[in-house]
Amino acid sequence: MSFKPPRGMRDYLPEDLAKRRFIESCIRRLFRLYGYEEVETPAVEGYELLAAKVGEETRRSMYVFEDLKGRRLALRPEGTAPVARLVATRLRTAPKPLRLGYIWDFYRYDEPQFGRYRRFYQGGFELIGVDSVEADVEVLCIAADLFRMLRLPGVWFRVSHVGVLRSLLAFYGYGEDVQNRVLGLADKKMYGEIFKLLDELGSPGSLVDTVSRVVKLRGFDRRRVLGEARKVLEGFTGASEGLGRLSDVLDLLSEVHPDVRVMVDLGFARGLEYYTGIVFEVFVEGFDIALAGGGRYDRLIEVYGGEPTPAVGFSPGVDRILAVMDRLGVSPTCKPGRILLVTPVSEGKLREAFKVACRLRAEGIPATLDVKGRRLRSTLSYADRMGFRYVAIIGEEASEGYVTLRDMDTRTQEKIPVEELPSKLSKFKLPETLNLETPGKQFLEGL
Ligand code: HAM
Repeated sequence: MSFKPPRGMRDYLPEDLAKRRFIESCIRRLFRLYGYEEVETPAVEGYELLAAKVGEETRRSMYVFEDLKGRRLALRPEGTAPVARLVATRLRTAPKPLRLGYIWDFYRYDEPQFGRYRRFYQGGFELIGVDSVEADVEVLCIAADLFRMLRLPGVWFRVSHVGVLRSLLAFYGYGEDVQNRVLGLADKKMYGEIFKLLDELGSPGSLVDTVSRVVKLRGFDRRRVLGEARKVLEGFTGASEGLGRLSDVLDLLSEVHPDVRVMVDLGFARGLEYYTGIVFEVFVEGFDIALAGGGRYDRLIEVYGGEPTPAVGFSPGVDRILAVMDRLGVSPTCKPGRILLVTPVSEGKLREAFKVACRLRAEGIPATLDVKGRRLRSTLSYADRMGFRYVAIIGEEASEGYVTLRDMDTRTQEKIPVEELPSKLSKFKLPETLNLETPGKQFLEGL
């Protein structure tokens, strides 16, 4: 019998979780800055719903099971489909545009390796109900802001527009099925396989030639790449429209975020099948795994019975960002916030200590009680190992209203009146106290 979590899934010890919370807090800060409201859906949904448009690769990696009534269910492999379901159902009549955010766990039976897990966290920003250059750029800006907040060095974006390859194939009469296969192969950079497939399908040489020229178009000089692309795609109306949109998006992005490095890569596609417009991924130099990915999906909401609703969004991969930060030695230093240990000198003083701790907490000062009532020496060594900043020693003088406050950093201590403790420790005071006067108001103000 194994007592480990399933392969590819991890436990988070306090320090790991503190790091994850740090990334999550950056994502949540962006929710508030840009006006995205958080939603939550179950981790389990009907298989058909989750599988509808995720593409062959993700579909094959889904955890699928039957419940006791024989319903076919799955663990969510990504978050855009559940959000699209919400928009098509409960948010059907909500005023648009809607800005929805989430930070959830996801499950994919991927081969575990660096930055790739079978259970992982993603943030998500979904801007629903607008098809505009500005909406596309908003999502790119959020991604740029996130990576700026994280101060990761060497960040760059790979950007494309799936309409270019899709329209090109559609021009030659190929439907969604072939388009999806080609884009799925492009996602894995298996360009040789694309030509093999087109060959098998008996495609005309002009298509093969155009595709082979398009997938080679890439570079950080967007004007050059897009200029060459315009020449290659002259006469293909749909593909040229895609290029035009991409060009407008990148122009605005470079105006509002001139420091973002963007590689235009027309051979880049995403495995998820619901994309219809711009697509992008975020990388850090030296790593070939994407830290975030997203794009426009204008047809997904109608798959779940909603009105045709344009939408665009992206998801940063929380665990993957942390893995890269760790490797680069720039991960957040998140020491658990152990502040004050309230400890009695003997078991007889335990009640007294309990009361002091209660009093401190009522004032918003974090106080951990040493409930064991052991000898002072052992408690101090415990406090040291746990990294407590202070110890409040409750001894004989407690009956006269005094405690001894020991600073574990300087190893000095002083005897002070109990009522002075809160002001002495005021810099640790939490904004939320046990008696919120107007909880709703404080919540809206974001504590
Ligand atoms: P995705 O590219 O499949 O997009 O995933 C987004 C991010 O999640 C990836 O860039 C990566 O950082 C992280 N990720 C993916 N798979 C794993 C894994 N096995 N282990 C660790 N991290 C992983 C989506 O899921 C879309 N729903 C994004 C989106 C939102 N598009 C529009 N809105």
